[in-house]
Amino acid sequence: MRILLASSEVHPFSKTGGLADMAGALGKTLARAGHEARLVTPLYPRVREQFPEIRRVDWRFDLPLGARRVQAELWALEAEPGLTAYFIDQPEFYQRGALYQENGASYADNDARFIFFAKCVAHLARYLPWRPEVVHVHDWQAALVPALLRQQQRAEEWWRPPRTCLTIHNLAYQGIFPQASFALTNLPPEFFTMETAEFYGHLNCLKAGIALADVITTVSPRYAREIMTEEFGCGLDGLLRRRQGRLVGILNGVDYDFWDPARDPFLPCAYSAGRLDGKTACKLALQKELGLPVTNAMPLFATISRLAEQKGVDIQLGALEEMLSADLQFVLLGSGAPAFEAGYLGLARRFPSQVAVRVGHDEGLAHRIEGGSDFYLMPSRFEPSGLNQMYSLRYGVIPIVRATGGLDDSVTDFTEDAARANGIKFYEYSSRALAKGIRKALALYAQPELLRRCRRNAMKLDFSWERAVGEYLKAYEKA
Ligand code: ADP
Ligand code: GLC
Repeated sequence: MRILLASSEVHPFSKTGGLADMAGALGKTLARAGHEARLVTPLYPRVREQFPEIRRVDWRFDLPLGARRVQAELWALEAEPGLTAYFIDQPEFYQRGALYQENGASYADNDARFIFFAKCVAHLARYLPWRPEVVHVHDWQAALVPALLRQQQRAEEWWRPPRTCLTIHNLAYQGIFPQASFALTNLPPEFFTMETAEFYGHLNCLKAGIALADVITTVSPRYAREIMTEEFGCGLDGLLRRRQGRLVGILNGVDYDFWDPARDPFLPCAYSAGRLDGKTACKLALQKELGLPVTNAMPLFATISRLAEQKGVDIQLGALEEMLSADLQFVLLGSGAPAFEAGYLGLARRFPSQVAVRVGHDEGLAHRIEGGSDFYLMPSRFEPSGLNQMYSLRYGVIPIVRATGGLDDSVTDFTEDAARANGIKFYEYSSRALAKGIRKALALYAQPELLRRCRRNAMKLDFSWERAVGEYLKAYEKA
């Protein structure tokens, strides 16, 4: 099948979160399975420096964006044998300090930046000599593509236009802008109605995609059910219920090329389920790196995360406050809302021999933390899929998760299946419930035999992308 994937971030070229990991891995796995997959993404700073093999393509965009016309160039590289990645080069929009926001504030022209991106994707789908059968768009930044394709099809003869698939990675981000931004789409007014892009008088990019895509996927079966409820639906549950015949939940996979402790170049010591002594060496090296007391006598808990409401920062800070009187260490790697960063930094100041906090984005450290920790805390309020709990499982780091979305779908608690347990789940969204989970972890750490079994269960799980790709192919067929 010929599939054009469009995402505002793609690992290893750009990344703020799991969307990048997912888009990169999906493209790669489709190509390895013999499909013709191509990726489109914006050209951000440093990509050209880091990937010198990237080449300019003989192609120019000159597209309307409201009243003006905007030009862009196209670059490409072979990301993987059989997988071409295209980069939209529009320096005014994409050569910035970050992808979407700086100092907690979104860029004021994100409407123009990503409406333009969606237009470039639709343009490529229409005019590339290579004709995609499916255009698979991700999140609000590309969600206007189905509307743009539909309009293009109406405006001119287009024999067999591609089908569209929209993946919702996070319903909390919808790309909502003032009504005036709709003019930037240059779409006729019938696309700004209650059935399409209009949302309480505003433009809602994701809503247009949900309304018009041929199939809609989200990143876990449980989250697919959750978003059809008022509690998780972020105002779009009614529309999602109407489209439920077209909605499917597919749990994300793990790219074991990057996340495997047996061959992870970031780790000081390789290990696997059968050779766990390497894990202890990783832990001691990590403690040293973080300036924590070097010891295996107490467990090391970890979190690597965007610091946003979604991730349960408030209950985590509360639970740690309560639990730091016990013998445990905690490391956080993350960045996000300044108030949340300050909360963790405050904890590190007050408990310097137990808590280490690193603010920022650091891929190597993320791997070393997975390699060296014993337990992984993920107390999310909601979690469409979540990747770090699955990385943790492979690294033998027991996840402690709130039973929501993909966390519930990927972790098995002792109460669900004692023989196959690989993690600890809690249900209520409260510091108390999380603290109880941490207490269970301390008890588990005190029983080495049980801990070893739980680790083995975790490490032998297989969330490889081949399974998920099979499900995406079914969704494409359906489209
Ligand atoms: P989300 O996409 O909601 O942020 P996921 O669990 O799906 O959550 O994916 C997060 C991804 O981003 C993981 O690959 C994680 O390791 C990575 N990540 C998050 N914060 C950091 C950070 N500060 N440094 C390095 N990697 C990070
Ligand atoms: C979103 C979600 C996360 C998911 C990721 C990749 O960022 O918050 O749960 O794993 O997308 O699909």
